[in-house]
Amino acid sequence: MESHCTWKKKIDTILAQAGNRQDNVTGAISMPLYFSTAYRHHGLGESTGYDYSRMNQPTRQVLEEVLAKLENGVRAFGLSSGMAAIQLVFTQFKSGNHIVVSDDLYGGSFRFFDLLSQQYGIEFSQWNGQDFDQLAQLLTEKTKAVWIETPSNPMMKVIDIKKTAELTHQNQAQLIVDNTFYTPLIQQVLDEGADIAVHSATKYLSGHNDILAGAVICKDEQTAEVLDKNLITIGSNISPFDSWLLLRSLKTLPIRLKKQQENAQQLVSLFKQSKAVTNVLYPGKGGMISLYTAKNIKIDTFLKKLEVVSFAESLGGTETLVTVPAVQTHADLSEQQRQKTGITDNLLRISCGLEDSDDLIKDFKQAFKQAESEE
Ligand SMILES: Cc1ncc(COP(=O)(O)O)c(C=O)c1O
Repeated sequence: MESHCTWKKKIDTILAQAGNRQDNVTGAISMPLYFSTAYRHHGLGESTGYDYSRMNQPTRQVLEEVLAKLENGVRAFGLSSGMAAIQLVFTQFKSGNHIVVSDDLYGGSFRFFDLLSQQYGIEFSQWNGQDFDQLAQLLTEKTKAVWIETPSNPMMKVIDIKKTAELTHQNQAQLIVDNTFYTPLIQQVLDEGADIAVHSATKYLSGHNDILAGAVICKDEQTAEVLDKNLITIGSNISPFDSWLLLRSLKTLPIRLKKQQENAQQLVSLFKQSKAVTNVLYPGKGGMISLYTAKNIKIDTFLKKLEVVSFAESLGGTETLVTVPAVQTHADLSEQQRQKTGITDNLLRISCGLEDSDDLIKDFKQAFKQAESEE
């Protein structure tokens, strides 16, 4: 379902036109939504290219083509959630394989890695994402992959992808990057040396807090073929309706992210001047900020007093959200691991939305003030 163009289009153009020029029968501008699970054949060996929707499906296919272009990969897979995307990548590995993971990841990824280590015999080591001598020591002949999130979640540490890729490849292992926080519009992880990009498309890619979705994008055909076969086997594909919603949402990703980034920069300035905040963690790009509140701020009061911003556990959507990682995204980590990473009870993570920054500033100011005054 490729549409023809005589030059290489820019990514904003590809996204704005996602799904257009795909349906030659009706000329539909918006990609049609196909619900059919089964596809009729004219005769033996005469498939239209579609047989059964777990294998291939027209709406999902167009979505996957756009996702592949977005990350500059050879092939992409649309999954039913970010966790399903992570699980698909791990179908390549088996008992006895060793994986190095950066030490500040989405809590659910840690939960999954614990399951794999306890029940499926995959071994994991943690790397701090900064010390490359430490990484070199962790890599062994059993190491099949290095898994990182950058910027890290929730501490916003940036990991050098190129350097990580070099060391990983010297060891004949794959570099896998969860690119959920920055998206390919800020960070092209495959171009920087990663072999696989993973997304919780529930976040920025869909951007409206209304679908669960995941994406895996491969740089080489060989890996793509393995994952394709495994996905047909496990069947955790994204549904047709969610494929359609995600495809529609991708059209506005560049303007959404631009506004989210602008709002983040305004809020970072506010937090840096605020007595209610002792430390701001912002990597300089993107729409995510973490911060530590001062001792005299009662977190529960602050959350209750917010009038525009919502206390909720997600990110990347149009609405600004505040998360408390210690009790939400990272609640399943041991107290010791949380302390080691810096995930204390006064750490807040903010996902900037698309609201007018004046309203966000007013809201944070008044909620902090009221949380302080109740001391
Ligand atoms: C960085 C990151 N990766 C993966 C996931 C898992 O994605 P999902 O919730 O879509 O399953 C999340 C969820 O918050 C996330 O933040």
